[in-house]
Amino acid sequence: MTAPFIFNTVGSIVFGAGKAAEIGTLAEARGWRRLLLVTDPGLITVGLVDSCAASLTAASIEVTIFSDVVADPPEPVVQAATEAARAHGADAVIGFGGGSSLDTAKLVALLARSGEPLSEAYGIGNAKGPRLPLMLVPTTAGTGSEVTPISIVTTGTSEKLGVVSPLLVPDVALLDPELTYGLPPAVTAATGVDAMVHAIEAHASASANNNPVSRALACEALRLMGGALERAVHTGSDAGARADMLLGSMLAGQAFANSPVAAVHALAYPIGGHFHIPHGLSNALVLPHVLRFNAETAGAAYAGIAPLVFPKLAEIGTQGRAAAFADELQALSIRCGLPPRLRDVDIPEEALEMMADDAMKQTRLLVNNPRPVTRADAQAIYRAAW
Ligand SMILES: [Fe+2]
Repeated sequence: MTAPFIFNTVGSIVFGAGKAAEIGTLAEARGWRRLLLVTDPGLITVGLVDSCAASLTAASIEVTIFSDVVADPPEPVVQAATEAARAHGADAVIGFGGGSSLDTAKLVALLARSGEPLSEAYGIGNAKGPRLPLMLVPTTAGTGSEVTPISIVTTGTSEKLGVVSPLLVPDVALLDPELTYGLPPAVTAATGVDAMVHAIEAHASASANNNPVSRALACEALRLMGGALERAVHTGSDAGARADMLLGSMLAGQAFANSPVAAVHALAYPIGGHFHIPHGLSNALVLPHVLRFNAETAGAAYAGIAPLVFPKLAEIGTQGRAAAFADELQALSIRCGLPPRLRDVDIPEEALEMMADDAMKQTRLLVNNPRPVTRADAQAIYRAAW
């Protein structure tokens, strides 16, 4: 019998090549008149924001662009963007970019309207709201932030805190694969592996809210991305591969928004926090090793999804399939040009102890892992990955 569960998601999904040019019409239809558009300076430089801004202006919408978002956004960036929204008298917020821009936009919509301090919103279910209307437009196929209730903020030098609240799920997710055509291979590979990890961890999550909707979405996400990742990396202009990656990453985002991720992410965060390794690459570096560790308890779950990514694994008996899945994912990362070992990204062996200590602090994630992780386990996984 299906256990009780809750599944929350975005109110409206608009998907299609060229749809970003319709952003003005979409905003106008919702009665938005004064917008803050939150993005990063790189997207301004490459001209990706231009057609969106033109579409909004053509719809007689007053737009102010905040383009100071940086990777792993620190608190002052969130606060400056919130001030910009207030100064403009924004009646809605659009996030445009990678996960950092979308995470920032979510918090701006919350803080600019509710007035609550960011420090009191951290944690699960602590945000009070209400928030301003919110549209999110991803330009990478990875984080799934456009459909998740999570924003991650860097506090101090390296620590990260999350705001987790259904209030952060936007009103509209606008997905235009054309926005991802120019992503460099390394970014396509790292963000793509991150999205696959979201689906894998959501499917096998030990969360009490692991549910059949999330598992179905995770399966479809893995089928789409398994067939598309290498093509998207090696031929960035492959429209079909880019569309499958963007759709797959969004489905994976919906999956883990309701059946949360686990030890791969818990062990990835110290890598990103201390060594400024991009989030997706951090995940890729520990992924096969966490899967091998988890296979003892999650072997059946992995055996079920492995052929969706690698159809040839259907020919292997279910006993050996989880191990083969980990091997194939490691080989896929290498074929996509990602460095395979922690030492390859200049992480010193002496850092593994400290990273294991830090990983154990990620209790929000570790609690969802299908096999309990001790500090000694975390250290052994890092050592295998080194
Ligand atoms: Fe992730």
